[in-house]
Amino acid sequence: MSAMSMHIMSALEYFSYAFLFVIGLIVAIIIVLYTIDVMQTGHAIRRNYPFIGRFRYIFEHLGGFFRQYFFAMDREELPFNRAERSWVYRASKNVDNTVAFGSTRDLRLNGTVMFVNCPFPTLEVDAASVEPMVIGPNCKHPFKARSLFNISAMSFGALSVPAVRALSKGAAVAGCWLNTGEGGLSPYHLEGGADLIFQIGTAKYGVNNGAGELSDEKLHAVAAHNQVKMFEIKLSQGAKPGKGGILPAIKVTPLIADIRGIPSYQDSISPNRHPDIDSIDDLLAMIHRVRLATGKPVGFKAVIGAYGWLDTLFTAIRERGDEWAPDFITLDSADGGTGAAPMSLIDNMGLPLRETLPLLVDKLVAHGLRDRIRVIASGKLVTPTEVAWALCVGADFINSARGFMLALGCVQALRCNKNTCPAGITTHNPKLQRGLDVQKKAIRVQHYVDNIVHEVGMIAHSCGVPEPRHLKRYHARIVVENGRSVSLHDLYPPINDGSDVDLAHDPLVRA
Ligand SMILES: Cc1cc2nc3c(=O)[nH]c(=O)nc-3n(C[C@H](O)[C@H](O)[C@H](O)COP(=O)(O)O)c2cc1C
Repeated sequence: MSAMSMHIMSALEYFSYAFLFVIGLIVAIIIVLYTIDVMQTGHAIRRNYPFIGRFRYIFEHLGGFFRQYFFAMDREELPFNRAERSWVYRASKNVDNTVAFGSTRDLRLNGTVMFVNCPFPTLEVDAASVEPMVIGPNCKHPFKARSLFNISAMSFGALSVPAVRALSKGAAVAGCWLNTGEGGLSPYHLEGGADLIFQIGTAKYGVNNGAGELSDEKLHAVAAHNQVKMFEIKLSQGAKPGKGGILPAIKVTPLIADIRGIPSYQDSISPNRHPDIDSIDDLLAMIHRVRLATGKPVGFKAVIGAYGWLDTLFTAIRERGDEWAPDFITLDSADGGTGAAPMSLIDNMGLPLRETLPLLVDKLVAHGLRDRIRVIASGKLVTPTEVAWALCVGADFINSARGFMLALGCVQALRCNKNTCPAGITTHNPKLQRGLDVQKKAIRVQHYVDNIVHEVGMIAHSCGVPEPRHLKRYHARIVVENGRSVSLHDLYPPINDGSDVDLAHDPLVRA
């Protein structure tokens, strides 16, 4: 036998021993796991189906990924389906966002919105740009808000440092505002130079006197930043009405704890309402106090469930005088997003925007406060269709949180509460944050705003009006039963404030 064949023989012998060793090791591991499963009493499936039962957990975990990429249809997933997500991704990358062949949306389904195109659409030369709108005209420092599409409250803590930096820089170039959320004001919010809305959450992070009460001194300090344009008192948010903010201990890093004024690595749970706001009078007093202390517009954010209180509130304002009114109301939808919430609240508490937006707008008109109080709507308004719907119903501004998360690269992994966000947006793990390039994502934020406003403009022009804020209820229809649609004007007859009576009966614009 030649030396060469000897070498081949010994190599084969070596590999067969290695192979037998690996097989032996695998069998040993299976036997150990099998024994552990039989002995343990915590998991019925593993006890009844030792070893094999473990695959259930692996598949359950992997199922989410497989469904998202391979099995779910374009219009199937929640909270946002693939078609919606890709629209936002493409808009924020500023790449071609046209689709081919035909709509993949089933237009017969209840709730489908259809806009009423005009036989003679607005020519580009006749189109108008969206004018800035003043909020709080009677304040010492009224706010001239430039963009109709803005960044909704997301706290520093729920969001990572690079995410806040990218939003702040992107908002500055896009000319939209960035709401701080309830976690206080950080240097990262200020960094880009954007207009900011400071949110006063129920724990009053950032403006707390240390005993859970509002500190006028700290309010002054926040208001001293020229960038802070308005103050928003958070009564509730759509995803968890009646529950305060929840930031799990793992996300309360020393930096975040310092901005909030709380101990690090302990759960940050804010009260389920402002301890000092327990009535309409308290609410009006708080609005008045913050406005007096800051000289800037003040409003509140709420999701509506019970709604009789709105009449009580608006009547009280009319009795006291318009100067007592909130300068804006941010109306959140029951299907809004959050960093963390109990399932029973996220699924079943509060009413969705499609019911509450017409209700709020009509009550403001009925009480003669429509021009005094601006309406900001939020809740899954992430594509031009939804934004245009909200404008038709009567919103002045649109806020989005998750739309901007998608613009930052969110893949809807649903892990905002785990500190393991794979896109670096809601995690404080530096390794995961590495993927989020602040400059590049800031440009995406800008493109997203620009493309939303552009495409909502296109819808407005198709309906025959010069700009989005001219959209009215009669410009949209909604599919009800049997695939038939009904005009929003008939579904929610607007209270006649004289502004659109003639047009509502114009055969060119009215369906
Ligand atoms: C990660 C995350 C954090 C949020 N933090 C706050 C917050 O601090 N205060 C608040 O009022 N709403 C908060 N929200 C709710 C949003 O501001 C918004 O009202 C809601 O998500 C609906 O808008 P969307 O459907 O465009 O996301 C948060 C939402 C998300 C997704």
